[in-house]
This record gives sequence, C-alpha cells and structure tokens, in this order.
Amino acid sequence: MQNIMVTGGCGFIGANFIRFLFEETDFSGRIVNVDALTYAGNRDSLSDIEKQYTDRYVFHKVDICDAPALEELFTSYSIDTICHFAAESHVDRSIVRPDAFVQTNVIGTFNLLEIARKHGDKLKLLHHVSTDEVFGSLGKEGFFTETTRYQPNSPYSASKAASDHLVRAYHETYGLPITMSNCSNNYGPYQFPEKLIPLMILNARDRKPLPVYGDGSNVRDWLYVSDHCDAIWTIMTEGKRGETYNVGGDNEMANLEVVNTICRLIDEILPDKNQDPRSELITFVKDRPGHDWRYAIDFSKIRTELGWQPKESFSSGIEKTIRWYFEHSEWVDRVLSGEYQDWIEEHYG
Ligand code: NAD
Ligand code: DAU
Repeated sequence: MQNIMVTGGCGFIGANFIRFLFEETDFSGRIVNVDALTYAGNRDSLSDIEKQYTDRYVFHKVDICDAPALEELFTSYSIDTICHFAAESHVDRSIVRPDAFVQTNVIGTFNLLEIARKHGDKLKLLHHVSTDEVFGSLGKEGFFTETTRYQPNSPYSASKAASDHLVRAYHETYGLPITMSNCSNNYGPYQFPEKLIPLMILNARDRKPLPVYGDGSNVRDWLYVSDHCDAIWTIMTEGKRGETYNVGGDNEMANLEVVNTICRLIDEILPDKNQDPRSELITFVKDRPGHDWRYAIDFSKIRTELGWQPKESFSSGIEKTIRWYFEHSEWVDRVLSGEYQDWIEEHYG
C-alpha cells in the first residue's frame, strides 16, 4: 500500500485515522484525503498534519458523488488502496432529511466501487468502514456477530446496509479485493458535537439542558476512536480479502449512565460549590422514532484471527475526551459557530 485514498478524512473518525497512520504506524506512503467538507467535515482537524507532511499528505475537496472528479484523482495519484469513511453519519438527520444519506452513502459508495472495478488491476484493497446499526436492535440478551442478519431501522442504517451489500457483491461478482468493518459507537477527539458524548460534554460545561431521549435506558457499546483506527489498520494490513469484521469496545452502557458519568467528571474538573450537580441538567425529551434499544458486539473474530482488542477503558477514554474538548475550545467554537468554513477559505484558499 503506497497511495491510499481516504474518503471522508476531514470527519471525526477519518481525521483520527489519518493522524493515526502518520503518528502510530510504519506506513510510509502517501495519503490522498477526499472530502466534500459538509457541515461535519473540518479541514482544521488536520491542519498540523497538512503542514508537517507536505510530501505525503494531500487534501482535495471532492464529493464522492462526482464520479469523474474521483476518477481523475484515482489515476493522477496512482491510487492502490481506498479506505472509505465518507458518509452522512447522524441518525437524527437521516430521519429529517434522508435524501443526502441515499446520495452519499449509496451512490457515493457505488461510484467508488465502479472506479475500483475499472482500475481493478491497480487496486490492492478497498476497505469499507461500516456500522453495527445495520444489524438492527437487540433485546437484553445476545450480541451482533458477522453472520447476524441485516435489519436496519433508520434511513441512515438502511443506506449503510445498502452500501455494505454493494461492497460485498463487488467482491463476489468481480473479485474486487475488499475488506469491511462493522463497528460500534465511537467517541474521542474531533467528534462533531451533535453526537451524544460531545454534545453532553459541551452542554454540561456551559450548564445547558442535557436532552436524554426517552427514558435513557437505550444501550450502546462505546469504543475510543484510536482503538477503531487501530482495528481498521489491522484489518487492512492483515485481514483476509472478502471478509467482514465486527469491531466493538466491550463497553456496554445505558445512555443515562453515560450522561451521569460525564456530569460527575465535569463536576470534579470544574468544581463550583454554589451550583447544583450537573446531573440536575438532565432533561428527558421525546424519543427518537424507531430508536434502536441495544447494540452489543461480539468481536471474537478480529480478536482471535487478527489479535486486535481495544486498549482504552471507558473511564480513561471519557476523561481524556472531556479534557480534549476543554483544551480545544477554539476548535469547538469554530465548529459550533459554523465559522470554520470561512476560516478554511481564508487560511487555505
Ligand atoms: P462524520 O460525519 O464525522 O464525517 C463524515 C465525513 O464525510 C465528513 O468529513 C464529511 O465532510 C464527509 N462527507 C460526507 N458526504 C460526503 C461526500 N458526498 N463526499 C465526500 N465526503 C463526504 O462521520 P464519522 O463519525 O467520522 O463516521 C465515518 C464513517 O464511520 C461513516 O461511514 C460511518 O458510517 C462509520 N461509523 C461511524 C461510527 C461512529 O460512532 N461515529 C461508528 C461506526 C461506523
Ligand atoms: O453504532 C454506531 C453508530 O453510532 C454510527 O454508525 C453512527 O454514525 C453514530 O452516529 C452512532 O449512532 P447513534 O445513534 O448510536 O449515536 P448518537 O450519538 O446520535 O446517539 C447515541 C445514543 O444517545 C442513542 O441511543 C440516542 C441517544 N441520544 C442522542 C443524542 C444526540 C440522546 O439521548 N440524546 C441526544 O441528544
């Protein structure tokens, strides 16, 4: 792998992945970051990488729905590997406006696959980053495995399921060298503050209401983002072509427990005897339609076959994450104000 095209590299996991490749692995090739810079994409998340690795990192503002532009990049940089993160990723937005999800997640993935097929002789691997949400919802018992049947419940998860099926079909039909990962909920630095954890951290800091959907009993399995990046790189370098791997954190928690933990930690970091504990800010709001109750991952395949397992515990990961958001208020303010799009124009042209 010499020339890796990373799609969606200005988003939360993509930016962490690019940073991870440069800083934590022996990868010595070039990364071509292709991102449309939607509201969720922030070039600023990699501004230091952009300065430091001028000969090994390049960014292109390109929409993956624009097939000719993608193909031009594919050929001009002699791409031999694709790691595909680009997606509309937020479930609540998919409920309000599903169209962008079908465009990017289905048509965009299809475009990549077609280019990969056309230049199949040069392609070593296309890794598709997917989600555990394609499997639907669990009750109190059981775990998702790689053979759990697909039963997506939101427009987001249905669009990701469609992309997974296309990726798998291109391997079966055309022999495209693919790998795929279905991962649980990520948290950590650079996550857009619409997702549960960064939203609660920032609202709790500012003593704003903490909106918990339904009764807060829904369960998610939380994985620190660098562990996910490590899993993806492990699959890309050691995974069997044509295979899919479930990735999880072994960290199931009810939403209410997550929010209470964040409140307790912030009370300790920013103590104020004259104020109520931040857990008093919790406000139960109307539930998300079609809200999946529980996700839980059986990741024994990647653990036994490739030797990967998560390194970060939730207690250390969540504290690191809270401190990261407190120490990066400039990044946070720009993202929240939407000004970062103007800032990008000014700084990068
Ligand atoms: P994100 O929303 O933070 O980032 C998505 C990135 O894709 C943004 O930079 C955005 O600008 C870019 N993008 C969107 N549409 C595009 C288009 N048409 N063309 C080019 N770029 C486009 O998402 P994330 O949380 O980093 O998720 C990345 C991937 O990982 C997604 O495929 C998601 O389904 C998957 N995933 C996420 C999680 C999670 O907990 N966040 C868990 C499992 C899997
Ligand atoms: O499981 C992997 C998925 O995790 C990824 O595929 C998605 O891209 C990612 O967004 C995430 O989906 P969720 O819907 O689980 O994440 P979110 O942070 O939106 O919500 C986590 C839980 O918290 C969920 O049960 C809904 C609840 N929630 C969320 C928000 C934003 C609240 O109670 N209040 C909120 O304000």
